[in-house]
Amino acid sequence: MCITGELTQRCRQGRLQSAVAFGQQLGAFAPVHVVAGMPDVQWWRAILPFGRARIRWEKFAKFFGDDLAPVLSTPRVVVAGLLTSYGLAWKSLTFNPRVMTVKGHLPKREVTRVKQVFTGAPPEAVRVAALHLNVLRGQISRRMGLSRWRTAQERLLTLGADVILCAHDHQEGAGQIDGVLPVSTTGTHTRRTRGKRPSAFNVIHVDWQAVHIVHYRWDAAAKEFQPSTESVFARQRRPSDGPVPVAR
Ligand SMILES: [Fe+2]
Repeated sequence: MCITGELTQRCRQGRLQSAVAFGQQLGAFAPVHVVAGMPDVQWWRAILPFGRARIRWEKFAKFFGDDLAPVLSTPRVVVAGLLTSYGLAWKSLTFNPRVMTVKGHLPKREVTRVKQVFTGAPPEAVRVAALHLNVLRGQISRRMGLSRWRTAQERLLTLGADVILCAHDHQEGAGQIDGVLPVSTTGTHTRRTRGKRPSAFNVIHVDWQAVHIVHYRWDAAAKEFQPSTESVFARQRRPSDGPVPVAR
């Protein structure tokens, strides 16, 4: 299971504790992979060139470990995190001051590292790249999560991933980069959804030929998440292996 960031709203101690407890509950069912989101970063502790950059993630790391973009390997799935949440940073800056602290960026070194992880993985393993900022434009927000998003998309295309997981837009979505690389954008579990939509998460199933992304949306009457829209995308890499479920 992958949690692609925003475990807290303002990186508060209590929220981090709750997030750890939530992760432990999920961990009873499957291994859990976590990357930091923008509100999980205390960017104000090291603004631009002032201060030690690492201090921004110090609090988050106390609860979720020093590896901010971990790799989770199982015999059939490799999930590799890419760190895109830096807060107010040179490479995340845009011309719009209103989104200065909510844009992220995808450094080349992160892409190089994950490429190596995927190159060394067993051929039959499904390769999943997980990052926080949305890499496709939000349907309602019309926003991209990353600054220099086209460069980021081009970098993601070189990863050798079967599917990209991202979040940040607060609206569930599914699509492709350049019609070849499937992207799953998760919604949110809390009530802080966009456009008063129900809470949602995505379940991904990868088989020989395709990547299936199903949105599970909260059904208030039934008081449970129900499977809803399914998007199916052709798989570019064809390892000789059977169906592999990947849940998030
Ligand atoms: Fe975010």
